[in-house]
Amino acid sequence: MNNKIIIINGPNLNLLGEREQSQYGSTTFDELKQNCISKSKELGLDVEFSQSNIEGEIVNLIQESIKKFDGIIINAAAFTHTSIAIRDALSVFKKPIIELHISNIYKREEFRHKSLISDIVTGGIFGLGSDGYILAIISMQKLLKNENQ
Ligand code: DQA
Repeated sequence: MNNKIIIINGPNLNLLGEREQSQYGSTTFDELKQNCISKSKELGLDVEFSQSNIEGEIVNLIQESIKKFDGIIINAAAFTHTSIAIRDALSVFKKPIIELHISNIYKREEFRHKSLISDIVTGGIFGLGSDGYILAIISMQKLLKNENQ
């Protein structure tokens, strides 16, 4: 059964609820984690929720995901705009990948308009706040269900 997913969060997302609430809302990282776990359970998905401030650790997580997980939801945060290493690791993952951003990166500074991963992922969600995580989980469940058929 294809039901194992990982949600990977990049740098500073551990500070959700404290940092730039006008961009990222008031939901804390722990609340977000709990919301993601309960939605995943409801939809029959087995979820791992992770966060790292370190680029190489995220690359390692993606590499390990090739054997362990059926889908990746990733908010690479600032690394979205800079990391060829994360892009290259994601390129090796041949199963569904959803790119996620809490804020609308296209409404913000120009340096955030470029994502180095958008053209290699299955699809993306941005600008819908932390609800985007719940929407991504719903979409991932559908993608995996179709792969099971
Ligand atoms: C972000 C957008 C990025 O530009 C930023 O560096 C983040 C969070 C988002 O979720 O809106 O840290 O990925």
